[in-house]
Amino acid sequence: KTIYILNGPNLNMLGKREPGIYGGKTLADIETDCRKRAAVLELTTEFRQSNHEGALVDWIQEAGEKNAGGIVINPGAYGHTSIALHDAVRAVNPLPVIEVHLSNIHAREPFRHQSMIAPVAVGMICGLGPMGYTLALEALAARL
Ligand code: DQA
Repeated sequence: KTIYILNGPNLNMLGKREPGIYGGKTLADIETDCRKRAAVLELTTEFRQSNHEGALVDWIQEAGEKNAGGIVINPGAYGHTSIALHDAVRAVNPLPVIEVHLSNIHAREPFRHQSMIAPVAVGMICGLGPMGYTLALEALAARL
């Protein structure tokens, strides 16, 4: 089975972007971690990033159409704002979706405390850095 690992806006800047908050790993490093863990779990990955909300909607729909094993999504700031992403996750139900944020969004500014995706996701992992992605893969593998 294939797990879609989707990344939203500004996550292409990881490594140089506010490393005190997001750490020193690049998105390519996180992709490598995910590939390795997925191989152990006998899963394949589609790892993607876009700064555009609609691209993320398209990819959620694609994961549904292609009968993926699940989705791990770090929606970046769109997680706090996007009814379109909320609706897309609902539209592919029962495809399991796990939301990931590198930082602990609840320990940050109030505008980051709300998630539009968490209420329609299987679960949400935040504050654990890049490990959140591989933990989400483990959780999806356990459901298959
Ligand atoms: C983030 C948290 C969001 O609030 C922020 O807009 C991001 C990154 C994280 O991974 O911690 O872009 O999703």
